[in-house]
Amino acid sequence: MLGRVLVVDDEKNITFVVQAMLERAGFEAIVFNDSVEALDALAVEDVDAIVTDLYMPGPGGMEILEFCHKNHPQVPVVIITAYATVESAVSALKQGAFDFVTKPFDQTDLLNVVQKAVATHRQRQKEPIIYFSQSDQKGVNSSSVSSVENLSGSISSMIGSSIQMQEIFKVISKIAHSPSTVLVWGESGTGKELVAFEIHRNSGRENKPFVKINCAAIPATLIESELFGFEKGAFTGAVASKPGRFELAHEGTLFLDEVGEMPLEMQVKLLRILQEQEFERVGGVHTIKVDVRIITATNKDLESEVKLGRFREDLFYRLNVVPIYLPPLRDRKEDIDLLVRYFLLQFNQKLKKGITGLTPETLNALKSHSWPGNIRQLENVLERMILMCDGTILTAEDLPEEFSAWITQKTPEASLEPASLKQIVRKQTQSLERDLIEKALEETRGNVTRTAEKLGLSRKGLQLKMKELGLKRQFE
Ligand SMILES: Nc1ncnc2c1ncn2[C@@H]1O[C@H](COP(=O)(O)OP(=O)(O)OP(=O)(O)O)[C@@H](O)[C@H]1O
Ligand SMILES: [Mg+2]
Repeated sequence: MLGRVLVVDDEKNITFVVQAMLERAGFEAIVFNDSVEALDALAVEDVDAIVTDLYMPGPGGMEILEFCHKNHPQVPVVIITAYATVESAVSALKQGAFDFVTKPFDQTDLLNVVQKAVATHRQRQKEPIIYFSQSDQKGVNSSSVSSVENLSGSISSMIGSSIQMQEIFKVISKIAHSPSTVLVWGESGTGKELVAFEIHRNSGRENKPFVKINCAAIPATLIESELFGFEKGAFTGAVASKPGRFELAHEGTLFLDEVGEMPLEMQVKLLRILQEQEFERVGGVHTIKVDVRIITATNKDLESEVKLGRFREDLFYRLNVVPIYLPPLRDRKEDIDLLVRYFLLQFNQKLKKGITGLTPETLNALKSHSWPGNIRQLENVLERMILMCDGTILTAEDLPEEFSAWITQKTPEASLEPASLKQIVRKQTQSLERDLIEKALEETRGNVTRTAEKLGLSRKGLQLKMKELGLKRQFE
């Protein structure tokens, strides 16, 4: 017997045909024409796959799917539906159905799908699966979360169980209420902006504005008017007066992102406002006083920028009153577990999917990656995996291409026909090269010339390597 399949359809003709076909192919078929009876049976029977009609009197295919999710999350559910309802079948897939077949169906099509479903179930049974149920929200929302907001709230929470993150949560709660300037630093994607916002939310200023300005995104010539505002006629094009970000942030928080990119002449002006909390609009004569909490962030090492003469020393000390360093994800891999769990819940909701867990193999692969783009990269990878996943469980096959070396070594096919040592070394080297190049590209924000310098390659050499590894520049 190849496997046990439970079939439920209110039309006897259909169950008759399906049963005959499955039995001929070597499966055991347990057949129901009443969905309540099918659900009762599912409570006690072990099956390898379920084939269910979508619309039936009483509970329909979606209820069967939901029941299986809760009680047998490893069992694939195949939905049969009429042509007219393909749309609902698609939504069933989003809810985690294994596949669907439209009526009238071709017998070989259905058989193929069932064979795949049964094989998937057998494979899943070999591997224990780590399940993330919705009730895990409580587990996640404990001391490992810095905010009180619920996980589905529009404001994202900061997650982290590592000692480093626990320390950061402590610092945030200690300093949030003070007016002191904070400098958050760390690699790209480590959560600097999230830290800034967490401080604001716990500062007592949370009902006042949180205003952000990205110093790298605004041309040097415009930073001053963006920060301080301008009066009508201050320059060509200033047809009306406009308040700057400092005024907009009055009584709230101003977040100066990528402060390391601020031109030197602006640094002087910033220093003055930090010392006096007052300024004039561009072209204005009135002095404006504001009460603003300043939080800055950078992915540069400002101390070396100071040594190189690119950042004013006095401003650095002024900003660095409370330094918060966010370590890269590869230095706090313990957080990956919790982050994966958290993003699964988030993306299930956002993408209307019903992913219930992932295989330990997949989690291990995620944990052994070096994550040059840090949490942002992990978040993006998971979103893509969840979006593309056809089943209810993320497996190694759902991992993106950059994990291919890892997958090739781990899949059963690969172990049947072991790759040559040369192949393995080549894959490993490529994966290492890919990580190094990605990281350097992140650091130079996609600048190929500087990346090549960093890696000791010629520009042409780097381009060839990137082509070979299928790497693209994906930066702002
Ligand atoms: N500890 C965390 N818990 C949950 N989500 C996080 C955490 N840290 C970062 N993220 C998420 O990762 C993404 C990147 O975070 P954020 O934008 O704060 O990073 P950043 O350090 O400011 O990056 P960049 O230097 O590129 O601006 C965001 O979507 C954020 O919500
Ligand atoms: Mg940022």
